[in-house]
Amino acid sequence: MHQALPRPATARRSSSLQGTARVPGDKSISHRSFMFGGLAAGETRITGLLEGEDVMRTGEAMKAFGASIRKDGDEWIIQGTGNGCLLQPEAPLDFGNAGTGSRLTMGLAGTYDMETTFIGDASLSGRPMGRVLDPLRQMGVQVLKASPGDRMPITLRGPKVAAPISYRVPMASAQVKSAVLLAGLNVPGITEVIEPVMTRDHTEKMLQGFGANLTVETDEQGVRHIFIDGQGKLTGQTIAVPGDPSSAGFPLVAALIVPGSDIVIENVLMNPTRTGLLLTLQEMGGDIEILNPRNAGGEDVADLRVRGSELKGVTVPAERAPSMIDEYPVLAVAAAFAEGETLMQGLEELRVKESDRLAAVARGLEANGIDCTEGEATLAVRGRPGGKGFGGGTVKTHLDHRIAMAFLVLGLATEKPVTIDDAAMIATSFPEFMGLMTGLGAEIETAQAAA
Ligand code: S3P
Repeated sequence: MHQALPRPATARRSSSLQGTARVPGDKSISHRSFMFGGLAAGETRITGLLEGEDVMRTGEAMKAFGASIRKDGDEWIIQGTGNGCLLQPEAPLDFGNAGTGSRLTMGLAGTYDMETTFIGDASLSGRPMGRVLDPLRQMGVQVLKASPGDRMPITLRGPKVAAPISYRVPMASAQVKSAVLLAGLNVPGITEVIEPVMTRDHTEKMLQGFGANLTVETDEQGVRHIFIDGQGKLTGQTIAVPGDPSSAGFPLVAALIVPGSDIVIENVLMNPTRTGLLLTLQEMGGDIEILNPRNAGGEDVADLRVRGSELKGVTVPAERAPSMIDEYPVLAVAAAFAEGETLMQGLEELRVKESDRLAAVARGLEANGIDCTEGEATLAVRGRPGGKGFGGGTVKTHLDHRIAMAFLVLGLATEKPVTIDDAAMIATSFPEFMGLMTGLGAEIETAQAAA
C-alpha cells in the first residue's frame, strides 16, 4: 500500500545509461489475467504478472467474488468460479488508484443479481464512471448509489436477467469496450460493441483464448464490430505476461536523452495497438533497434536496443493517440530535448486519466523552464537539445504514477535537478522503477517521507 505521507524524489543529470533491463509485466494483460482466470472454470497459471498495487487490487476483488488465488514460486495459480458464478462480495471493493481494475470489474459484476460497491483513492474517486455506467444501465443494471457526476463510491445491482445490447463506444476507450464485453459474458444472447477507433485488443484476444464465443468483424468504414455470445463456458489457461511497453517507455526515453547511453530492454510487448510511442520516437530520429522479434503466447514481443540520439520535433497525429495514450507524458519529455516543435494532437482522453495529464505535463514542463503550449486537446513542446537551462523545478504529480516517472526521466538530462512531490504512486504500475533506473546508471534519490 502506498504511504499516506508524500515521498518526494529528485533526479539529477546522469552519465550515460548502460546495461540490460527487463520491465515488469504488462498492466492491461495482468489485470485481465486475474479477472478472466478468476472467472473461468478450473485452473489458470500466470507467470510474468505485474505485481503492482493496481493489479493486486484486482486480485483481491476476484477473491471477494469467490476465486482462489495463490502464488507458488514465480507462478500465480487461480481456481476460478466459473462464468456466471461470481458471489456477492461481503465488503466494498477498494480499487485504490486503478481505473482499469474498477471499470472492467463494474462490467464483469454489474449485471449480476447482487450488490457490489466500488471505492477508490482521491484520484480514482474524481474520475468519470458514467462512461461505463451508461451501457450497464441499458442492460438493466441499477446504480443504487453514486457520487455526483457518476463518481465513486458506486453501488451496482444487476437485474434478474440482464439484456444484451448493441453499444457504440462514444470515446476511444479500451476500458469502456471491455466493460461492455465483460458484462455481455453474463447476459443471454449476443452483445455487440461497435468500436469506431481501434483501441488495445487484449480483452478480445484473451477472452477468445479462454474459450469465449467472441468474433470481430471490420466493416467497409474500418469500424470494428465485436460480438460476444453470453453465458458460455470459460476455461482456465496458462498465461505468460509480456513486458509492459508503457513501462518500457521510461528507460527508453531516458536512454535517448542521456548522451552516450546504450541499453537493451528485454521482452517488450509489441502488440500493434500499443506501439505508437516507438513509432513516434523513431520518426523523431531515436536510435531504437528491434531485436529478436518473436511470438509468445499469442502476442508479439521483442527486445529493444536504445542509444542516445539527437531528436527532432514531429507532429503526432490524433489517430495515433489510442496506441500510445499512456505514453504522452514521457513523449513530452523526449520532445523537450528535440530540435524544434513537437505537436501532439487528439489528447482529449488525457484529461480524465489518473490526473488531468495534459495540464500536469504542461505545468511540469513550465516549472522546469521548458517552452510549451497547452491546447484543449493538444500539446506543443518546443525543445532544446542538450537541455541547457532546464530543470530546477518541483513537479506536482497529482497521485499520478506516469507523471512521477516521466519527470524523474526529465531530470536525468536537464542542467539542474528535477524534483517530484511524491514518488509513492509509482508502485501502482512499476514498483521496480527506482531500482531498474538506478541499475542502468540513473541518479535518482527518494527523500524520507515528508512531515
Ligand atoms: C487500459 C486502457 C486505457 C489506458 C489504461 C489501460 C486498459 O484507458 O489508459 O492505462 O487496460 O484497457 P482508457 O480505456 O480510458 O483509454
